[in-house]
Amino acid sequence: MADTGGTRNNVAAEILPGVHVYANPSEVARGAARHFVDYAWQSIAKDGQFMVALSGGNTPRQMFELLASDEFRAQVDWPKVHVFWSDERAVPPTNAQSNYGVARRELLIRVPIPESNVHRMEAEKANIGRAAHDYEEVLRENLDLDDRGFPRFHLVFLGMGADGHTASLFPGTRAPRQTSRWVSTPFVTKMNMRRMTLTLPVLDAARRVVFLVVGAEKAQIVREVLQGNADPPYPAQQVQPREPGQKLFLVDQAAAALLKPLPGGDTDPSQKPAGTTRGRPGRSV
Ligand code: 6PG
Repeated sequence: MADTGGTRNNVAAEILPGVHVYANPSEVARGAARHFVDYAWQSIAKDGQFMVALSGGNTPRQMFELLASDEFRAQVDWPKVHVFWSDERAVPPTNAQSNYGVARRELLIRVPIPESNVHRMEAEKANIGRAAHDYEEVLRENLDLDDRGFPRFHLVFLGMGADGHTASLFPGTRAPRQTSRWVSTPFVTKMNMRRMTLTLPVLDAARRVVFLVVGAEKAQIVREVLQGNADPPYPAQQVQPREPGQKLFLVDQAAAALLKPLPGGDTDPSQKPAGTTRGRPGRSV
């Protein structure tokens, strides 16, 4: 497994199973970039290619910049990477709100990934329902199906809103209840916008799901999603990868501030040697 150069103080404390706490957002981004590199290696070694879905919003941007940096870029076999999105806003790719637009500017044009390996959601199309079907065809052409007939990503990155939404699966909308479609196009009233999003069965079919969540404004929802028992559960809680232990949270200390670590769990990342979690040198997530 590639050593992704964890010389800096990039340590994580696993305070709950699958919940890795880093000192700050930059260290979360570094942990996420290391995760991307490690999982790309594993997937390409096993399947010859790496199918990854990127999340939108602000939090993944530092990870994009790191992956495009001299330190990380050469550690990924980009011609064998296929990039998809977990959701998209109904705006053109040139619009500042476009998740594809952000990833293109901050990552994709800076790494040697073939244009044909970049599979964006055309959520700006007038007939967004048609565009959703087209994206399901793109998934069908590129991804293996699990035993329930849902497309399997190697890795899906997700974010989480303060309301517990993830991708564009918002509480109170129908999208989280989708059980057959692969791609849904909810109208999100509070955003006054239509979105395109992967559905829960597709997220659950992923080999691994990694949430990136930072900032004090997310501390309340992080506690509720990880240690609360909301009824109905938040969409971020409803994401349940079928393979055990494959739902990970990479969070910073501010977002983890209200979590109660398990007795005997790691509590303070600064007490650990660089790049370690309990018992396994060099691999921090
Ligand atoms: C989007 C997202 C969304 C995002 C969360 C968190 O298109 O907005 O995919 O689910 O991940 O809203 O966004 P921030 O990272 O900006 O807090």
